[in-house]
Amino acid sequence: KTISVIGVPMHFGQGIGGVDLGPQALRHAGFIDMLKTLYTTVIDKGDIVPSTASGKEDGLQNGRAIVETTNEVRDQVYEMLTEGALPITLGGDHSIALGTLAGVVKHDPNVGVIWYDAHPDLNTDETSPSGNIHGMPLAAGLGIGHERLKSLFTGGFIKPENVVLIAARSIDEGEKKLIREHGIQTYTMPYINEKGMAAVMQEAIAYLRAKTNRVHISFDVDSLDAREVVGTGTRVAAGPTYRETELAFEMLAKSELITSIDVVEVNPLLDEQNKTAEIAVALTASLLGKTYL
Ligand code: ARG
Ligand code: MN
Ligand code: MN
Ligand code: MN
Repeated sequence: KTISVIGVPMHFGQGIGGVDLGPQALRHAGFIDMLKTLYTTVIDKGDIVPSTASGKEDGLQNGRAIVETTNEVRDQVYEMLTEGALPITLGGDHSIALGTLAGVVKHDPNVGVIWYDAHPDLNTDETSPSGNIHGMPLAAGLGIGHERLKSLFTGGFIKPENVVLIAARSIDEGEKKLIREHGIQTYTMPYINEKGMAAVMQEAIAYLRAKTNRVHISFDVDSLDAREVVGTGTRVAAGPTYRETELAFEMLAKSELITSIDVVEVNPLLDEQNKTAEIAVALTASLLGKTYL
């Protein structure tokens, strides 16, 4: 299996500078070397050059810049999949997942999605309290929201029943409504606290396996407890620990379902000595089947 990595140094999906340095922070934390310890063929395609900021237009903050940039992400991810590789997209803020989702669903209309995140990112331009597009990619992936974001999905949309949210705990009103209306499988923190991460992951894996054999995981580093990830823009308390996430990702590695990965929202300007990128590197290793012995 070949691993192909593409960096997307883009920050237009939110207002805090520095998340565009995420791909470099992850590379400096040893992301590529980590991959090479696990796989013989690792191709680093370098970074996409994002469009320049386009401001507010048609109700979307930096919409044109994000659409232009994620168009390229979609095409790159789709190409990597057709070549038989496992694509890893390094953010950048979570709006880059517009491109990854569009690419993976174009390749497999039945693809599953794990959204491992403190947030569902199921806002639209109409429900978003912030106007930030990084809170909208999953909605667009389901075919909900602004036409310009939906237009990225040239190969169709993700099926809502193929989506699983894990670690959600900061959920806006519009997002709650959408989760209920579409019956999106959502493992919130109280449920994880009650059942324990191992039982939750067993359930999530069984749920997805019944629907598909290919799963994209979008890993937002703000999924982890606010105390564990200083280097990210929208931290939320009471999340899973590094250890719980390691367990979750090891179980996903053993499931052999994962066929593509996003690592997003690492902001080294907010971090302490690049620790958040280092955690993201270690957890991605777990996701890809790193063993200790
Ligand atoms: N729900 C909030 C919003 O729409 C926060 C979204 C945070 N998203 C993220 N990818 N960190 O603005
Ligand atoms: Mn194919
Ligand atoms: Mn997110
Ligand atoms: Mn988030």
